Amino acid sequence: MDKEKIVVVDFGGQYNQLIARRIRQCHVYSEVWPYTVALEKLADPSVKGIIFTGGPNSVYDEKSPHIDPKIFSLGKPILGICYGAQLIAYELGGEVTHAETSEYGKTIITRIGDSKILGRFSSPSEVFMSHTDRVSKLPEGFKATAKTEHCPIAAFEAPDKLIYATQFHPEVRHTLEGQKALEDFTYNICGCKPTWKSESFITEQVEEIRKQVGDKKVLLGLSGGVDSAVTAALISKAIGKNLYCVFVDHGLLRKNEAKEVEDVFGPNGKFDLNFIPVDASKLFFSKLQGVSDPEQKRKIIGATFLEVFEEETNKLDDVEFLAQGTIYPDRIESGLGISAKIKSHHNVGGLPKNMKFKGLVEPLKNLFKDEVREVGKLLGLPDSIVYRQPFPGPGLGVRIIGEVTPEKVRIVQEADYIYREEIKKAGLDKNISQYFAALSNMRSVGVMGDSRTYDYAVVLRAVQTDDFMTAKPYLIPNDVMINIVDRIVNEVKGVNRVLYDFTSKPPSTIELE
Ligand code: XMP
Repeated sequence: MDKEKIVVVDFGGQYNQLIARRIRQCHVYSEVWPYTVALEKLADPSVKGIIFTGGPNSVYDEKSPHIDPKIFSLGKPILGICYGAQLIAYELGGEVTHAETSEYGKTIITRIGDSKILGRFSSPSEVFMSHTDRVSKLPEGFKATAKTEHCPIAAFEAPDKLIYATQFHPEVRHTLEGQKALEDFTYNICGCKPTWKSESFITEQVEEIRKQVGDKKVLLGLSGGVDSAVTAALISKAIGKNLYCVFVDHGLLRKNEAKEVEDVFGPNGKFDLNFIPVDASKLFFSKLQGVSDPEQKRKIIGATFLEVFEEETNKLDDVEFLAQGTIYPDRIESGLGISAKIKSHHNVGGLPKNMKFKGLVEPLKNLFKDEVREVGKLLGLPDSIVYRQPFPGPGLGVRIIGEVTPEKVRIVQEADYIYREEIKKAGLDKNISQYFAALSNMRSVGVMGDSRTYDYAVVLRAVQTDDFMTAKPYLIPNDVMINIVDRIVNEVKGVNRVLYDFTSKPPSTIELE
């Protein structure tokens, strides 16, 4: 029998992978399957429970997704969430109506009677709602277990049928006690044991990768970032020297970064793989000479990266698979029938178009960032990589306003190094989502000793964000800031002024270009 799991049946909700992740947090394996999955697959003894996700449709829409009602006779515990709850009511003879008042966001529920799934909830309790339709009449044999001001049936269940439903989203953090409902469903109702761990993920993926690629060679572009590093460590564990990692140094990395990557993955590192470093900095600098438009710079860096990557990989014989460090948030959350989208953001220029591969290896594609970090730690990667801040593919190229020159790159590297060193020393590094030094293209007058200077102004940025779509400036304490500024102007030749960028996103972006 396959390993025991909870299957999340995807009806197009935004949070479907989040549900699976919350179940994995209970140390029980969970996967998302499309709603079109064959019933026999769900009938497999390894499937201990089924969760129906939310979705954008109304059960009455002509094109709304439905599922074979025989699913309710499989004898498996089922939990319906939002659209999933309405679908259960509709399929089993209840009624769903279009409510006059939509509920969106934080909402208060009050418990009604006993419940096997809300048994540990307080009453009242704060939950996250996002619906217009609601269940207005329960099917026979069901009882309501919670209500809100506008929704008399906010949760319902029929324990003898093993069916449970919540109109709210237990998987979302705004549902303060949501994890309790998922735990009770997983452990008490489905009878799962909390035995699945990140170690199990590694063992399973190692097997899976071996099965997929056999004795063939796999190519991976290493960027030094968390995702590609964890992918490399994992694949190397599976196939050792059949993994070829090409690391293109475009000369726009942070100070010492290329060396750090080499120390971990190179011949003196602890991983068994082929490490192919390529120092292409001269080529990048020559192509960037005289170019100051941000979009043009990005395009040149992307195209040159691809050119170098292709040239290097063309030297390798019989590579049949391409590996990518795609993680779940990189994929389009298109809802129904999610299909893996090739990550283009991180890969600077997208995929090598002239190379034909037999297949893609993306072992992290269902994981969230913190799960990836956990796997990375277990695989023995150093903290400097596991907790590395996001770094744009075009590197310092988008942190230098205007033309990029080796001299400007040196200035940013030195200033950024000091900034990072001092933030770490002050114990702030884990509190700030992203912080870095950039170079304004501005020079201004200063005085050094008895002489006039006309030097560059460095820009310091520090932001706090959950999703990097919006961000707020992080307030660095004055004493720490004064120390950083003093060190930068004293130690970095060519800088006589330091500015602190205090703008939110929007209207700014996090990077300067
Ligand atoms: P912006 O500047 O758009 O950045 O507010 C949002 C987040 O994305 C990162 N970023 C990039 N990452 N390739 C990447 O892999 C890129 O071209 C790129 N541009 C921005 C940025 O560092 C921030 O975390």
